[in-house]
Amino acid sequence: MLYLRDAFPRERWTDALPETAAFWLQMHAGFRAQQAQMAQAATRWRSGALDPRGLHAALIPTLQTFLGHLDGHHRVESGHYFPQFRLIEPRIQAGLDLLDRDHDAIHADLDALYHAAVAFHQAVAGQSSDAPDQAHRLADVLDRAAPGLIRHLDDEEDIVIPLMVLKGGGGR
Ligand SMILES: [Fe+2]
Ligand SMILES: [Fe+2]
Repeated sequence: MLYLRDAFPRERWTDALPETAAFWLQMHAGFRAQQAQMAQAATRWRSGALDPRGLHAALIPTLQTFLGHLDGHHRVESGHYFPQFRLIEPRIQAGLDLLDRDHDAIHADLDALYHAAVAFHQAVAGQSSDAPDQAHRLADVLDRAAPGLIRHLDDEEDIVIPLMVLKGGGGR
C-alpha cells in the first residue's frame, strides 16, 4: 500500500504541491491541531487546573467544530475522491478499502464523542453534581479516539498525496 509514498516520499511534499493536495494537508493539520488542543484541555481538567465549567469553555466549542468538519471531510473523501482514485489508480484498491474502513471506525468514535459531550454539556448547564463524572467520561472517550484518528490521517496522506501528484487525481 506504500508504493505511492515510496515513489513520492514525504521529503518531497513541498510548497509546489497541487492545490487540492495542499488543501488536503491543511485540513489534516487542522484536525491534528484541534485534537491536540482538546487533549490539552483534558489534561488540564485531570490535573485540577480546570473545573467542569472551565473544561466546558476550553473543549466544547472546539469539539463542535471538530465533529462537524471531520464528518463532512470523510463524506467528501469516501463519496467523491476515493471512487475517483479507484478509477485513476486501480492498484491502490486495498489501500482505499482500508481508509474507508477507518472512516467507519472513526465515525463510531465521533458518535461516542458526541454523546459524551452532550451528557457533559447537560450536566454543566444544569449545574448537576454529575458534571465531574461526565467530564472524566468525555476525557476518556477523547483519549480512546485519538490514536486511530491520528494514524488514519498519516496513512491517508501516504496514499492520497502521492496519488494526486503522480496520477493527477483530485480534480473536481
Ligand atoms: Fe479520511
Ligand atoms: Fe482526510
